[in-house]
Amino acid sequence: MSRPVFPQPSEVAEAHARIGEWVRRTPIIRLKGPGARPMVLKLECLQRSGSFKLRGALNKLLSLERAERKQGVITASGGNHGLGVAWAGWLLGVPVQVVVPAAAPRIKRDLLAAANAELTLVEGGYPEADALARDKAERSGLTYIHAYDDADVIGGQGTVVAELIEQEPAVGTVVVSVGGGGLAAGVGLGASLDGKERRVVGVEPTGIPTLHTALAAGEPVTLDRIDSVAADSLGAGRTGDIVFPVCRDRLDRVELVSDAALRAARQWLWDHVRVAAEHGAVAGLAALMEGRFDDDPGPVGLIICGANTDPSDLVERDGPVSQPEVPGIPSTSVIGPPEQGAQLSARRTVFATSDNLFRALGESEPPDASEDG
Ligand SMILES: Cc1ncc(COP(=O)(O)O)c(C=O)c1O
Repeated sequence: MSRPVFPQPSEVAEAHARIGEWVRRTPIIRLKGPGARPMVLKLECLQRSGSFKLRGALNKLLSLERAERKQGVITASGGNHGLGVAWAGWLLGVPVQVVVPAAAPRIKRDLLAAANAELTLVEGGYPEADALARDKAERSGLTYIHAYDDADVIGGQGTVVAELIEQEPAVGTVVVSVGGGGLAAGVGLGASLDGKERRVVGVEPTGIPTLHTALAAGEPVTLDRIDSVAADSLGAGRTGDIVFPVCRDRLDRVELVSDAALRAARQWLWDHVRVAAEHGAVAGLAALMEGRFDDDPGPVGLIICGANTDPSDLVERDGPVSQPEVPGIPSTSVIGPPEQGAQLSARRTVFATSDNLFRALGESEPPDASEDG
């Protein structure tokens, strides 16, 4: 087995150039509030596939040998990573297999079923799916892709912050959700690519303190309990061996937020910005709403990193719309909402609609990847 490779900032810069024509340069909006804190939202929930996971997947596939790409890849995922790999495979013409845990939420299983990948459903959770994916890879010659503990995946995820600091160089603190830690490691590596010092803060649910526990122990630890409304995206339960030293060295700290705070942040984003994001994608906003970044350099850049959620509870709730302490004042126009309907049929239309919208705004078609020979 090959030794882990510890990624450097240069790998984010290289990934940024490598995947640039395949990813959507997702918009930012500048807001004040809640709490009058100037913040910059990076709407990565509008990325193709519905999350930043496309970035790491593309960088991984584009880093493989041509023969490996032709043979195909396999991964385990209950959602966004699988969707990212499926979309990357579709864009680049690489066959993709995804082993999906039966415990994955319905909306993500349905989206995966509609994606361009061969699926195998297994009883249990992510560990069972991952074991089967590795086993199949060994037996079939497919390349196994880890969801976060991979230098190419980490480098690709970091391109989201490379883009953010091009769009808003003034950002002083960047906040990311942490699951396995691939996104946080990539953002830690890429946050100062332009030479400006920035603070990077990770945020986890209190019921899944994966990186928090690892940092306290000085090494990755497998959690024995995962309990959060964001478990479907942040529930990896063990920080990666490659991820860990990068996060230890490059993150300022890890904040913990309750499920109630995650629910409130997700609802705030819908009520005030008309963006439907998943619980795992608003961990940073939840922490900001509790004043956790009041002493950090601003503006605070928040990566809203995933849209793959059933939005029916957002749009069909009773009761008044919550008010921020100071009403948010968008200083640039908001593209959205990404969807109006509550059900999957609507969700499918949304991908098409958001593609049409971006095209109308001048987004170019992804290149044709068909390889000769
Ligand atoms: C929306 C969203 N945010 C954050 C994460 C966490 O990413 P990582 O596992 O790289 O920490 C995930 C992982 O699936 C995700 O889907």
